[in-house]
Amino acid sequence: MPKITTNSQGQFTIPEDFLLRRRLEPQAEYWLDERDGDLVLHFSLPDAKKLYIEVTTACNLNCHTCIRHSWVAPNTHMSMDIFQKILDSLPGLPQLERVVFTSFGEPLVHPRIFDMIAAIRAFGMDVTLGSNGILLSEKVARKLVELEVDLLMVSIDGVKPEVYEDVRDTQLDNVLHNLKLFNQIKEEIGTRKPTLGIEFVALKKNKDDLLDITDLATEINASQIIVTNVLPYSEEMNAEKLYGYQPVEPLKTSRWPAKSNSWGRWGVIELPRMHFGSEQRCRFVHNNSIVVGWDGEVAPCYALSHSYEYYAIDGIKKSVQRHTFGDIKKNSLAEIWMSEDFVRYRSEVRAFHFPSCADCDIRDTCDLRLTNEACWGMNPSCSDCLWAQDIVKCP
Ligand SMILES: C[S@@+](CC[C@H](N)C(=O)[O-])C[C@H]1O[C@@H](n2cnc3c(N)ncnc32)[C@H](O)[C@@H]1O
Ligand code: SF4
Ligand code: SF4
Ligand code: SF4
Repeated sequence: MPKITTNSQGQFTIPEDFLLRRRLEPQAEYWLDERDGDLVLHFSLPDAKKLYIEVTTACNLNCHTCIRHSWVAPNTHMSMDIFQKILDSLPGLPQLERVVFTSFGEPLVHPRIFDMIAAIRAFGMDVTLGSNGILLSEKVARKLVELEVDLLMVSIDGVKPEVYEDVRDTQLDNVLHNLKLFNQIKEEIGTRKPTLGIEFVALKKNKDDLLDITDLATEINASQIIVTNVLPYSEEMNAEKLYGYQPVEPLKTSRWPAKSNSWGRWGVIELPRMHFGSEQRCRFVHNNSIVVGWDGEVAPCYALSHSYEYYAIDGIKKSVQRHTFGDIKKNSLAEIWMSEDFVRYRSEVRAFHFPSCADCDIRDTCDLRLTNEACWGMNPSCSDCLWAQDIVKCP
């Protein structure tokens, strides 16, 4: 730890090797803060790397798992005026690498989705599209190939048709047929992109299908699988969850023979944590992510991007209030990203400086815990967050 001495005016100099290592300009801006009596300097840098855009809250399905059984949100599309504000903001965030078109809705139902993807691609950024795969017609598949979308994540929550249907209320065959066509088009054009991934929400009713998920992945030429636990937005889903407070049996999946035809990519399967633990790490914040909702409101993560109810790890019902740090209609993404409140909040999350509700003696009777607030004046609090536990995952 280098020792820094203030001069007679109370000024100090940040050591040169630190600036070099962090590639910081000598004249960078910082927010000066205090945490538990310590002095904290927060960087104020335009260093967002991943941008999630919720182009719509509408959907062509009504899956049993979905937040739409619990949330307060209109069924609506992002306007092109709001999308244009995002585009206008992009030069202010020069480290942005990837835009993820998904959130809580089906991006392929937005009538201008291809214009949106094309506009992002024109900035040279990678694009991930998360979809239920039902609307992936030949025309749509050709368009995604033409636009060089980098990654297509398709949700498949069952390998046996009846299991998939029991979660999604639609037929698995539709999706498999579309993905076959998608692969044919890629082969015909001779391209690797978009690579294909599967997202699988593990439930009691579909956990045995995980034993066959890698075979299915190989069959449809997918090169990655993300298995997540369910965030229980309803009593029905609370009864379906597999994880617990205490360690439970890990999920069993088949091995992956890595026979992925995706041009040299090995198959990767990510599994979620199955119980509450002391390590808490928010992938949204650690990956420098930013989420823009359908109405232009800017949140740090999916968890805070809507108001909804869900059941916490010990079964208490929480009522989450949306928490955003700005509105793209009023300020640029960089202004919002570097604002005092958002910078401080990300720093609190990185340090995971929140009260530990999970092992608090009064957690069963604490009113604050019924919302997303907590003691120490925390609002919002990440204490109960299942994403921070890696119990719930997303691309
Ligand atoms: C909300 S959807 C939006 C994209 C698209 N409509 C789809 O279903 O793929 C994003 C991802 O969240 C998953 N998901 C849905 N409900 C969930 C829940 N309760 N807990 C965890 N993930 C969930 C979906 O399966 C999907 O893979
Ligand atoms: S397809 Fe996606 S957004 Fe639509 S209901 Fe299912 S999980 Fe929700
Ligand atoms: S918010 Fe409530 S449950 Fe959480 S640590 Fe504080 S007193 Fe305990
Ligand atoms: S820990 Fe959870 S609530 Fe907090 S920022 Fe991360 S995802 Fe959002």
